[in-house]
Amino acid sequence: MSDELQHNPPTSQPPQARMPSAGIGFSLNETPGIELLLQPLTSTSPIVNEAKIRRLYLQASTQQWFSPHRLNFSDDVEMDEVSRRIWIRFMTVFYTMEKMGLNVIQNMMSRAVRKMKSEEMAYYLSVQCADEARHVFTIEQYLKKLGAPPKYDYTYHVLGQAASMGIYRVENWLFSTLFSENFASCFLRKTRASNIEPMGNEMCKYLLIDESRHLHFLHIVLPDVMDRLSLFGKAYVKGSQFFIMKFTELMARKLDKDGKIVGIDRRELVEEVFENVERAYESFGVSRRFLPFPRVGALTSN
Ligand SMILES: [Fe+2]
Ligand SMILES: [Fe+2]
Repeated sequence: MSDELQHNPPTSQPPQARMPSAGIGFSLNETPGIELLLQPLTSTSPIVNEAKIRRLYLQASTQQWFSPHRLNFSDDVEMDEVSRRIWIRFMTVFYTMEKMGLNVIQNMMSRAVRKMKSEEMAYYLSVQCADEARHVFTIEQYLKKLGAPPKYDYTYHVLGQAASMGIYRVENWLFSTLFSENFASCFLRKTRASNIEPMGNEMCKYLLIDESRHLHFLHIVLPDVMDRLSLFGKAYVKGSQFFIMKFTELMARKLDKDGKIVGIDRRELVEEVFENVERAYESFGVSRRFLPFPRVGALTSN
């Protein structure tokens, strides 16, 4: 048993009371010898900014959290039956997306390290992969508390394939992640705002901290990836991204009615994701003309 577990055995106390602090992480700048730790290895002609990736790796390492210390899984989840049914539906979709993200990052991280010629990415992506494992594990426990066995929904499986197969697969994966991380962040913010249930709300808070960092990583690497992509590569990525966004938009319509009952507006959610992705592309020096976005439909088909 680790020291951490010995010092913090699970009890019926509120989770925050068992931790050294209710927040996550510690200050990187106060770490002894930090200047030395921040110096990247010297890779041969890396394609990405290694100093920034190294700093993000160290930051990610300081922000790791252990979900049974943050969420008290011995508590019951109180909800009316209609909200519970809908919430299980939403959480099953979210679980599927996170599980898919975990499978894909496991498959893609070594390819990305080679393609971007950056050993610093090996450090960083390993921690991001651990984040995604923690997310899947945590949502799995939460679904059990809701009374639903966690189930991977194969309806969405094609998204993972579109995001990581074919030519330019590393670039395609990174751009797909920009969309999926934005989607996860917007979804988590909206569920927090609608405050559906306290344990779920707390879980979303911790997931959101990690997802924001995952977006930060993409904002470091994607401008360099975009700069180096050939015209054909750009066309390929554009086609793949349009498919992923269109598929998501169509699937989201099926959740329209349920979303309204628990206070999540499906249309607002998808529009916000598209706007965030568009702003990100603009910051990489391309405009809406580069990446066409699907129209967000009003049609509801439940
Ligand atoms: Fe995640
Ligand atoms: Fe993520």
